[in-house]
Amino acid sequence: MDRRTFTKMLIGLMTASALPTYLQAKTPLGDQASFLRSLEKKPWLLGYLGTRETELHANLRIVSGYVPSDLRGHLFRNGPAQHNLGPDRFAHWFDAPGMVQRFTFSDNKITHYGRLVETARNVAETNAGHIKFSGFGTHGHDLTSGGSADGQNTGNISLIKHAGELLALWEGGSPHIINPETLETEGRKSWLSDTQGLPFGAHPRVDQDGSLWNLGYSVNPAALILYHISVDGQLLKTHVLPQTATPMVHDFMITATKIVIIAPPYTASNPAGDAFVDLFKWRAAEPTKVLIIDKADLTNVTLIDIEPFWVFHFGNAYDIGTSEIGFDFALHDDPSFMTKDAFAAMDGSWDGGASAASRYVQARINLKSKTVRLDKAPEFGQVEFIQTDARENLSSHRHALMLAQPGGASVFGFNRLVLVDRNTGNASSFDVGETEILEEHLIVPKPRIENEFWIIGTALDWQKGTTNLSVYDGSHLSDGPIMKAEMDLALPLGLHGTFIPAVGY
Ligand SMILES: [Fe+2]
Repeated sequence: MDRRTFTKMLIGLMTASALPTYLQAKTPLGDQASFLRSLEKKPWLLGYLGTRETELHANLRIVSGYVPSDLRGHLFRNGPAQHNLGPDRFAHWFDAPGMVQRFTFSDNKITHYGRLVETARNVAETNAGHIKFSGFGTHGHDLTSGGSADGQNTGNISLIKHAGELLALWEGGSPHIINPETLETEGRKSWLSDTQGLPFGAHPRVDQDGSLWNLGYSVNPAALILYHISVDGQLLKTHVLPQTATPMVHDFMITATKIVIIAPPYTASNPAGDAFVDLFKWRAAEPTKVLIIDKADLTNVTLIDIEPFWVFHFGNAYDIGTSEIGFDFALHDDPSFMTKDAFAAMDGSWDGGASAASRYVQARINLKSKTVRLDKAPEFGQVEFIQTDARENLSSHRHALMLAQPGGASVFGFNRLVLVDRNTGNASSFDVGETEILEEHLIVPKPRIENEFWIIGTALDWQKGTTNLSVYDGSHLSDGPIMKAEMDLALPLGLHGTFIPAVGY
């Protein structure tokens, strides 16, 4: 079957029949009143309360330090935000309509604006005042998928700027174009009619020439889909890798010559699950599969089986000569963060019970021996949201930044920043305290200063009910922020963001 035929089959099946098959059984729908009772006992649940607003404005006051004179631009973040609609509450953290939060750095001043990602689904549900459609882990009232993958699209995972466009990304359907000035949603992004509406993942990878690679996964028919988009936004190629059982693949990697997909044994097979997540089953006795694909010939795939584990996010990958690949990531023993904890945070029942371990891992693939070495670093505790310096993209990167939870936490979230120096093996860290929950922090290069960077990110102080924005000097993380600002608004804890420097910075 050629690519075009298969792609058409994908589109036809996904829009016509694949999604509704799992909408036949009763599935969880959260209860806002019950959550509010839990919030009274567990004030840290404020991070999962969400907002009913479609726009948010807040003033930030600088409470310590200063905004560096050469740090100018916008931090854009995305994440599920409207966790309840009327009496209904989304059952899973990943389900709520997305909201873009923009923080603008100017002359010793930071401003904020947030706006709902106006996908068809988000607008329809906001107007209806209840949860109409089913999603990742929630079943809506109308027992419908919304007609297609994009009918369920909440646009709530991440943001990238590519070819002059700011895109809000989801995992199961199209990106949405966001106006960076007004945060207005300007419509769905499609590169070609025959890829319109296909799954397009939330973590595209930028190649050395500025082109973009991305991955999507389809459940029915079972397939992985690769995209290559030029620096000026033209779709160069797509390639479909048929699968016997679709793995859930949230992120992937590229090197100068290869694409690396790591497919955990969390695969779709259940034809009539209660929600999307119920289509998938963790198969602990099966291997994690490593697919190494030649960028110059996408049909040239090397497959290596390794120990079973789950992964959301990778740092960076790079070729080591012609027969090895280095990379780093957060290894989860299994997907229970997603399948248990992210439900429990949303219904307020999370009580500090152990989820799967998630460890920072430095890894090396040997293509000759077809082996993968995993060097785990349990000393950093639970980790996630690995970030690297874009200037080190596809090369053996020195720094890896991550959020960490040392252990024994009574709140669901991370409160330590860890910066690993992969050259020396040393790490620096900073604890934000027991009352703050960190969101993803980014490595932002200092303009015109090679190897120096800031660390920038937000945190919720659930005791004070504020959202904080901090800037750290990458060379002195353990000294704490060089600038900390706060606003009297508790933003919902979100997922991923991107920093876009002002022109000239
Ligand atoms: Fe992600």
